[in-house]
Amino acid sequence: MAMEILPTDRVPETDLVEHLHGMLRALRARGESPQGDWVEGVARELHQGLRTGRFVRQGPTSILGFASTSDGGFFGHLHAEGPPDPALGARVLTALIDDLPPDSATLVVGFTGFPLRAEADLIRAVERPGGRAIARRALVRPIGPADELALTPPVPTARRLPVRDVPLSVLAQLDMRLYAGTLDALLTGPQPVHHERLLEELLHHRLGRFLDEASMALVESDTGALVGMVMTAELSAHTAIILDFGVDPMVRRKGYGRFLLRWTLRALRALGYEQVRLWVTDENLPARRLYDQLGFEPADRATLYRWERGSGQPHSG
Ligand SMILES: CC(C)(COP(=O)(O)OP(=O)(O)OC[C@H]1O[C@@H](n2cnc3c(N)ncnc32)[C@H](O)[C@@H]1OP(=O)(O)O)[C@@H](O)C(=O)NCCC(=O)NCCS
Repeated sequence: MAMEILPTDRVPETDLVEHLHGMLRALRARGESPQGDWVEGVARELHQGLRTGRFVRQGPTSILGFASTSDGGFFGHLHAEGPPDPALGARVLTALIDDLPPDSATLVVGFTGFPLRAEADLIRAVERPGGRAIARRALVRPIGPADELALTPPVPTARRLPVRDVPLSVLAQLDMRLYAGTLDALLTGPQPVHHERLLEELLHHRLGRFLDEASMALVESDTGALVGMVMTAELSAHTAIILDFGVDPMVRRKGYGRFLLRWTLRALRALGYEQVRLWVTDENLPARRLYDQLGFEPADRATLYRWERGSGQPHSG
């Protein structure tokens, strides 16, 4: 008998807390680190119906899917405890999409508790036009004495600034330019406000304690234009994460990217971190090549599912 996929306001809050602890463990194991009273906060909102969510328990498997909105775009997550069941996961995701308000335009969902193969099977089984899979990989690199090297900017007129000295709107404009026309742009949202929200989250420590000392904005002294940035946070006492990083398309291939990364590695070394992680989209070959040259190694892979209302494209698995 098919189990009912319950709206989370009909699920006991304690069950949600238990399940979300499993999700937190899975997120931390792969270097993601939601902050604050995340488990309790999300469980309460799901139970009170303030967030859209669906939950199912079938035999030893339980699956929770939920989503919330940021300026019209929805972001969500699906987590399985117990043996992963892609077909059941697809039903939860489908129910979640059905729950979204009719004016919602997009949904981006991440997964934990499903091995990579099960993620692909799950996405293939979601019967919604307008969906697609976006493959990403986590890379790690040890930080060591060799990272203490002296650095000069590739262009003598470039000036470093603390990121908090740059207005959020200016950082958001650069962030938009960085990813324009790429798959990564589909993950954030089309408006500057979406990038502002995301950067605000980073700067407010929501994805790990933000490390001002290992984050930087690069400005051209003569024009005052912001041409690059790198943002980092702490994941654990030994490990930092590069949350965002890029160079304005107008000034690429001049060595800014390599300079920013090397500068960050040196700053992280000075702060005592022994390892750095980051996530990169599979299709992002320029960044992957740079990371490869600087000694980053693959650590993990994961898929995001993006659905766009009315786009009508068949999903690609
Ligand atoms: C990745 C990025 C930061 C590189 O910045 P950049 O200033 O152009 O990089 P550099 O000039 O320092 O080049 C360093 C290396 O990057 C790699 N690279 C940069 N652009 C490349 C391209 N178009 N194709 C292939 N490799 C490329 C090369 O390995 C290059 O070394 P090489 O010139 O000796 O071959 C830039 O392309 C960017 O901002 N991309 C969009 C944002 C982004 O993807 N950020 C990473 C998110 S995980």
